[in-house]
Amino acid sequence: MEIRKITINHYEELVNLWQRASLPFKPKGRDSKEAIAKQMGANPEFFLGAFENRRLVGAIVLSSDGRKGWMNRLAVDPDFRRRGIASALVAEAERVLRDQGVKIFCALIEDENEASKRLFRKLGYVEHRDIIYFSKRESDDV
Ligand SMILES: CC(C)(COP(=O)(O)OP(=O)(O)OC[C@H]1O[C@@H](n2cnc3c(N)ncnc32)[C@H](O)[C@@H]1OP(=O)(O)O)[C@@H](O)C(=O)NCCC(=O)NCCS
Repeated sequence: MEIRKITINHYEELVNLWQRASLPFKPKGRDSKEAIAKQMGANPEFFLGAFENRRLVGAIVLSSDGRKGWMNRLAVDPDFRRRGIASALVAEAERVLRDQGVKIFCALIEDENEASKRLFRKLGYVEHRDIIYFSKRESDDV
Protein backbone atom coordinates (compact mmCIF):
# COMPACT_ATOMS: atom_id res chain seq x y z
CA MET A 1 0.00 0.00 0.00
CA GLU A 2 1.29 3.42 -0.94
CA ILE A 3 -0.01 6.81 0.17
CA ARG A 4 0.30 9.65 -2.29
CA LYS A 5 -1.44 12.74 -3.59
CA ILE A 6 -4.67 12.36 -5.56
CA THR A 7 -5.09 14.48 -8.68
CA ILE A 8 -8.26 15.48 -10.49
CA ASN A 9 -7.65 12.51 -12.82
CA HIS A 10 -8.69 10.34 -9.86
CA TYR A 11 -12.01 12.18 -9.37
CA GLU A 12 -14.27 9.39 -10.67
CA GLU A 13 -12.34 6.77 -8.64
CA LEU A 14 -12.62 8.99 -5.57
CA VAL A 15 -16.40 9.34 -5.93
CA ASN A 16 -16.66 5.60 -6.53
CA LEU A 17 -14.70 4.99 -3.30
CA TRP A 18 -16.96 7.33 -1.31
CA GLN A 19 -19.99 5.49 -2.68
CA ARG A 20 -18.54 2.05 -1.89
CA ALA A 21 -17.80 3.31 1.63
CA SER A 22 -21.40 4.67 1.94
CA LEU A 23 -19.96 8.04 2.81
CA PRO A 24 -22.35 10.95 2.32
CA PHE A 25 -20.91 13.56 -0.05
CA LYS A 26 -22.10 16.59 -1.99
CA PRO A 27 -21.74 15.97 -5.76
CA LYS A 28 -23.52 19.24 -6.59
CA GLY A 29 -21.68 21.24 -3.96
CA ARG A 30 -18.24 21.12 -2.41
CA ASP A 31 -17.55 17.64 -3.84
CA SER A 32 -18.37 18.43 -7.49
CA LYS A 33 -15.54 17.90 -9.96
CA GLU A 34 -15.20 21.67 -10.44
CA ALA A 35 -15.15 22.35 -6.69
CA ILE A 36 -12.60 19.60 -6.03
CA ALA A 37 -10.40 20.81 -8.92
CA LYS A 38 -10.44 24.29 -7.41
CA GLN A 39 -9.57 23.00 -3.94
CA MET A 40 -6.78 20.86 -5.40
CA GLY A 41 -5.44 23.91 -7.26
CA ALA A 42 -5.22 25.84 -3.98
CA ASN A 43 -3.84 22.96 -1.87
CA PRO A 44 -2.75 19.96 -3.95
CA GLU A 45 -1.25 18.23 -0.90
CA PHE A 46 -4.65 18.18 0.88
CA PHE A 47 -5.96 15.22 -1.13
CA LEU A 48 -4.35 11.94 -0.12
CA GLY A 49 -5.04 8.50 -1.51
CA ALA A 50 -4.04 5.00 -0.41
CA PHE A 51 -3.21 2.89 -3.44
CA GLU A 52 -2.98 -0.88 -3.65
CA ASN A 53 -1.56 -1.98 -7.01
CA ARG A 54 -2.62 1.37 -8.52
CA ARG A 55 -6.18 0.96 -7.24
CA LEU A 56 -7.52 3.70 -4.97
CA VAL A 57 -8.57 1.89 -1.79
CA GLY A 58 -8.61 4.77 0.69
CA ALA A 59 -8.70 8.54 0.74
CA ILE A 60 -8.81 11.60 2.97
CA VAL A 61 -9.45 15.26 2.18
CA LEU A 62 -7.83 17.88 4.38
CA SER A 63 -8.67 21.47 5.01
CA SER A 64 -7.07 24.13 7.12
CA ASP A 65 -8.43 27.44 8.26
CA GLY A 66 -5.00 28.52 9.44
CA ARG A 67 -5.93 27.83 13.06
CA LYS A 68 -6.98 24.18 12.91
CA GLY A 69 -6.57 21.35 10.43
CA TRP A 70 -9.57 19.23 9.50
CA MET A 71 -9.82 15.61 8.35
CA ASN A 72 -12.71 15.21 5.91
CA ARG A 73 -14.24 12.42 3.77
CA LEU A 74 -12.05 9.68 5.22
CA ALA A 75 -13.01 6.44 3.46
CA VAL A 76 -11.53 2.99 3.02
CA ASP A 77 -12.84 0.44 0.54
CA PRO A 78 -14.86 -2.22 2.46
CA ASP A 79 -12.61 -4.97 1.03
CA PHE A 80 -9.51 -3.31 2.49
CA ARG A 81 -10.59 -2.43 6.03
CA ARG A 82 -8.88 -3.30 9.32
CA ARG A 83 -5.47 -3.27 7.68
CA GLY A 84 -4.38 0.07 9.06
CA ILE A 85 -5.12 2.07 5.89
CA ALA A 86 -7.21 4.76 7.60
CA SER A 87 -4.61 5.03 10.38
CA ALA A 88 -1.86 5.52 7.80
CA LEU A 89 -3.92 8.15 5.96
CA VAL A 90 -4.54 10.10 9.17
CA ALA A 91 -0.85 9.92 10.10
CA GLU A 92 0.15 11.28 6.70
CA ALA A 93 -2.59 13.94 6.92
CA GLU A 94 -1.18 15.10 10.26
CA ARG A 95 2.29 15.29 8.72
CA VAL A 96 1.02 17.45 5.83
CA LEU A 97 -0.86 19.78 8.19
CA ARG A 98 2.05 19.93 10.65
CA ASP A 99 4.30 21.05 7.78
CA GLN A 100 1.93 24.01 7.38
CA GLY A 101 2.28 24.97 11.02
CA VAL A 102 -1.02 23.43 12.11
CA LYS A 103 -0.95 22.06 15.65
CA ILE A 104 -4.60 21.11 16.19
CA PHE A 105 -6.04 18.24 14.16
CA CYS A 106 -9.82 17.77 14.10
CA ALA A 107 -12.56 15.54 12.72
CA LEU A 108 -16.34 15.77 12.86
CA ILE A 109 -17.82 12.30 13.34
CA GLU A 110 -21.47 11.27 13.40
CA ASP A 111 -22.33 9.91 16.84
CA GLU A 112 -23.46 6.52 15.49
CA ASN A 113 -20.19 5.96 13.56
CA GLU A 114 -18.55 3.62 16.07
CA ALA A 115 -15.77 2.51 13.67
CA SER A 116 -14.65 6.07 13.05
CA LYS A 117 -14.93 7.08 16.71
CA ARG A 118 -12.82 4.06 17.73
CA LEU A 119 -10.28 4.83 15.02
CA PHE A 120 -9.77 8.43 16.11
CA ARG A 121 -9.69 7.50 19.80
CA LYS A 122 -6.99 4.93 19.06
CA LEU A 123 -4.99 7.60 17.23
CA GLY A 124 -5.00 9.85 20.30
CA TYR A 125 -7.90 12.15 19.44
CA VAL A 126 -9.96 13.44 22.36
CA GLU A 127 -13.75 13.36 22.18
CA HIS A 128 -15.57 16.60 23.03
CA ARG A 129 -19.01 15.65 24.28
CA ASP A 130 -19.64 19.19 25.48
CA ILE A 131 -19.54 20.74 21.98
CA ILE A 132 -22.48 20.83 19.58
CA TYR A 133 -21.74 21.58 15.93
CA PHE A 134 -23.65 24.53 14.42
CA SER A 135 -23.63 25.43 10.73
CA LYS A 136 -25.53 27.68 8.34
CA ARG A 137 -25.93 26.52 4.73
CA GLU A 138 -27.00 28.34 1.57
CA SER A 139 -28.74 25.11 0.45
CA ASP A 140 -28.81 21.35 1.12
CA ASP A 141 -26.50 20.74 -1.87
CA VAL A 142 -23.51 22.84 -0.88
C1 LIG B 1 -13.79 4.26 9.56
C2 LIG B 1 -12.88 3.69 8.43
C3 LIG B 1 -12.28 4.85 7.65
C4 LIG B 1 -11.76 2.85 9.09
O1 LIG B 1 -10.85 2.42 8.08
P1 LIG B 1 -9.81 1.21 8.31
O2 LIG B 1 -8.75 1.30 7.30
O3 LIG B 1 -10.57 -0.07 8.42
O4 LIG B 1 -9.22 1.57 9.76
P2 LIG B 1 -7.86 0.99 10.42
O5 LIG B 1 -7.58 -0.38 9.88
O6 LIG B 1 -6.79 2.00 10.34
O7 LIG B 1 -8.37 0.82 11.93
C5 LIG B 1 -7.63 1.32 13.04
C6 LIG B 1 -8.42 1.08 14.32
O8 LIG B 1 -9.69 1.76 14.26
C7 LIG B 1 -10.69 0.96 14.95
N1 LIG B 1 -11.67 0.48 13.98
C8 LIG B 1 -11.65 0.61 12.63
N2 LIG B 1 -12.75 0.05 12.09
C9 LIG B 1 -13.47 -0.44 13.11
C10 LIG B 1 -14.72 -1.14 13.20
N3 LIG B 1 -15.44 -1.44 12.10
N4 LIG B 1 -15.18 -1.47 14.41
C11 LIG B 1 -14.48 -1.20 15.52
N5 LIG B 1 -13.29 -0.54 15.52
C12 LIG B 1 -12.79 -0.17 14.33
C13 LIG B 1 -9.92 -0.20 15.56
O9 LIG B 1 -9.46 0.22 16.82
C14 LIG B 1 -8.78 -0.34 14.58
O10 LIG B 1 -7.68 -1.01 15.14
P3 LIG B 1 -7.61 -2.63 15.09
O11 LIG B 1 -7.95 -3.05 13.68
O12 LIG B 1 -6.20 -2.93 15.49
O13 LIG B 1 -8.64 -3.11 16.07
C15 LIG B 1 -13.68 2.74 7.50
O14 LIG B 1 -14.42 1.83 8.27
C16 LIG B 1 -14.65 3.48 6.57
O15 LIG B 1 -14.29 3.86 5.45
N6 LIG B 1 -15.91 3.66 7.00
C17 LIG B 1 -16.96 4.29 6.17
C18 LIG B 1 -16.71 5.76 5.97
C19 LIG B 1 -16.57 6.50 7.28
O16 LIG B 1 -17.31 6.30 8.22
N7 LIG B 1 -15.57 7.40 7.33
C20 LIG B 1 -15.29 8.24 8.49
C21 LIG B 1 -16.08 9.49 8.45
S1 LIG B 1 -15.78 10.48 9.92
